[in-house]
Amino acid sequence: MLRIRDLTVAYPHGAPVLHHVTLNLDSAGVHAVVGPNGAGKTTLLHTLAGHLHPSGGTIHLDGHDVTGWHPTAAARAGVALAPQGRRLWPSLTVVEHLALARPVAGRDEAWTVEELLDTFPQLADRMQHRTSQLSGGEQQMLTIARALRTAPRLLLADEPTEGLAPIVADQITTLLRTLPDRGVTVLAALPHAGVAAMIADTMHVIASGQLLGHTDTHAVATDVMRRHLTLTHLGDEPGSPTNDL
Ligand SMILES: Nc1ncnc2c1ncn2[C@@H]1O[C@H](COP(=O)(O)OP(=O)(O)OP(=O)(O)O)[C@@H](O)[C@H]1O
Ligand SMILES: [Mg+2]
Repeated sequence: MLRIRDLTVAYPHGAPVLHHVTLNLDSAGVHAVVGPNGAGKTTLLHTLAGHLHPSGGTIHLDGHDVTGWHPTAAARAGVALAPQGRRLWPSLTVVEHLALARPVAGRDEAWTVEELLDTFPQLADRMQHRTSQLSGGEQQMLTIARALRTAPRLLLADEPTEGLAPIVADQITTLLRTLPDRGVTVLAALPHAGVAAMIADTMHVIASGQLLGHTDTHAVATDVMRRHLTLTHLGDEPGSPTNDL
């Protein structure tokens, strides 16, 4: 679906912050780009959304070369960004945000407001509230709902659980996992591999602007589970050492 080759990106008048990144998303699903603060996750997502232009390398979406495209072209092709920090308008209401995020011309399989409220029932009672009055979790739901309104097939979710209590973060990640069944592939930037392993099908690790590697998280989860069960079983044997897993 998405093929990134040798991507190098710099901010205006600055040195490159992404260095020769090569990354493939071969299937629909939930994918994660993981790395510490300043690794380049946001830079990568903004480049895919057309907000930054690479100085080297290529980006292909479904076989089309989209390197350096304009944000409008990205939106028309079905790429939407749910930005880090949410970037909502504090004085606008939920319903106003959803009205402003109109489906992009040329994309007709848009999510209606009714469909969004089925997916985010917490927002239904908050439609007339200003976003400054919403909880962090509700603001994050609105950020994702606003992005879905443009009918994406690739949702770039930048730190969707940042600043949220664990129980609310779980709601958000559970929701992201449902999106592939609705035809939306997710690429989420996450700070921790643990969360990524829980929700993503593949995980791509980035540090200092370089891709360090990628893994199929099902294999990781299966391996961890197998070792856990083996150790638990050994711990059940008479005379075997117990373990604290
Ligand atoms: N607007 C900007 N102008 C110049 N440099 C920037 C700008 N935004 C980010 N950078 C630099 O680019 C590098 C990558 O930053 P980026 O925001 O992509 O990292 P990140 O992985 O998203 O980090 P975080 O986990 O803190 O969100 C950092 O060194 C950062 O200082
Ligand atoms: Mg970031």
